[in-house]
Amino acid sequence: MAKETLSITDNRTGKNYEVPIEEGGVIRAMALRQIKTGADDFGLMTYDPAFTNTASCRSRVTYIDGDKGILRYRGYPIEVLAEKSNYLETAYLIVKGELPDREHYQRWEHNIKIHTMVHENIKKFMEGYRYDAHPMGMLVGTVGALSTFYPDAKNIHDLESRRLQTRRLIGKIPTLAAFAYRHTRGLPYVYPDNDLSYTGNLLSMLFRMTELKYKPNPVLERALDVLFILHADHEQNCSANAMRAVGSSQPDPYAAAAAAVAALYGPLHGGANEAAIRGLMEIGSVKNIPAFIKAVKNKERRLMGFGHRVYKNYDPRAKILKAMAEQVFEVTGRNPLIDIAVELERIALQDDYFISHKLYPNVDFYSGIIYQAMGFQMEMFPVLFAIPRTSGWMAQWAEMVRDPEQAIARPRQVYIGEQIRAYTPIEGRPKPTMREDAVSEAI
Ligand code: CMC
Repeated sequence: MAKETLSITDNRTGKNYEVPIEEGGVIRAMALRQIKTGADDFGLMTYDPAFTNTASCRSRVTYIDGDKGILRYRGYPIEVLAEKSNYLETAYLIVKGELPDREHYQRWEHNIKIHTMVHENIKKFMEGYRYDAHPMGMLVGTVGALSTFYPDAKNIHDLESRRLQTRRLIGKIPTLAAFAYRHTRGLPYVYPDNDLSYTGNLLSMLFRMTELKYKPNPVLERALDVLFILHADHEQNCSANAMRAVGSSQPDPYAAAAAAVAALYGPLHGGANEAAIRGLMEIGSVKNIPAFIKAVKNKERRLMGFGHRVYKNYDPRAKILKAMAEQVFEVTGRNPLIDIAVELERIALQDDYFISHKLYPNVDFYSGIIYQAMGFQMEMFPVLFAIPRTSGWMAQWAEMVRDPEQAIARPRQVYIGEQIRAYTPIEGRPKPTMREDAVSEAI
């Protein structure tokens, strides 16, 4: 039988090394450290900016096969969960590893719902933001602020504390999100209604006006639930990595989750659905698609909502959303941007540039169109991504905390700066020249 090892010859020294191959295709970066030219040599390391070929952890939460377009949470295909599950049940699965039976589901739902209220001081905190503050910026701040309300959350090695913070954050994040939205609209905050479902309550906190009881439209409530299932986790994406990296210095999980929300804010991650809609609005009409595609191919533009670091095939979440859009439109009326999106996808998928770069629609290509039809402002799109992703962040964080192999995340660097230089007093220095790595042109 073939040996599960890798043989390496260092041509600088002629020495041979044998490195174990683990898990069917992984070598430990530390196995390279032994490869040295002499006693003073630090040893080999890998250089992998953006972690394109580096596993930072061993995880049991989410499986993706990017070439085949497969996504599974804890072994369950995303298509099955989107059809049969609801967000709270999926969150239980992600956080706890198994689907709950009825009794556990009811207890879980109760345990989340008793945490939907936020401290009244959060409202004052919200009021400190400018009237036109971006709700995602507000969410970064208010999730981080929870750290100051729950000092017990620092007991990260205590299982009960981790469970409590997980229930608290999954319970409170819709309230924080809805308060941020109401703030931007100048509307009074709506308190949670725990008679409603998780997504029904969110819709109530967002949209309730003078009615005594908000009745969510069941089609839209379910659509939001499916969107939440699809967004609940996505293995080591930028925000999960932020959650783990910040969490690795062992602050409470609210501080780490604030970093995760911040990571999600960017247009290359959770901000992509907002950017995708802006792109479609700019195209404006099917007739303008060829010119836009040309600009993308000339690298003047990027087609937001397309491409993925891991998927080199159709993102299975985008497939589900494309089909779901029509159901939503039956209630809300058709969002005309869908016609541009469908045609853009059709043209792009036949184009050599997109084929050769393996660029397919990702989850953000269709989610924004649905959110917009449901009446959400574009600024709320990344916020609607952050709410369900909270369960994924908490699961990733707990896995990291419990993993004995994890330590403070602290990458190495390849130093390419000056070696030692002599300090010259200010009077004797030459006029500084602009350096290519300068962060500002102030000099
Ligand atoms: N439009 C046009 N060209 C693209 C796109 C795109 N959306 N995405 C990648 N490319 C090209 C890129 O120009 C490069 O071409 P070349 O090799 O000729 O220089 C090649 O494809 C590889 O791109 P990359 O940026 O090196 O790939 P990456 O793995 O670093 O980036 C990505 C992945 C998602 C950031 C990128 O595809 C992108 O910017 N997409 C648009 C933003 C977006 O939709 N993000 C949401 C991702 S899904 C939800 C989430 O996880 O947050």
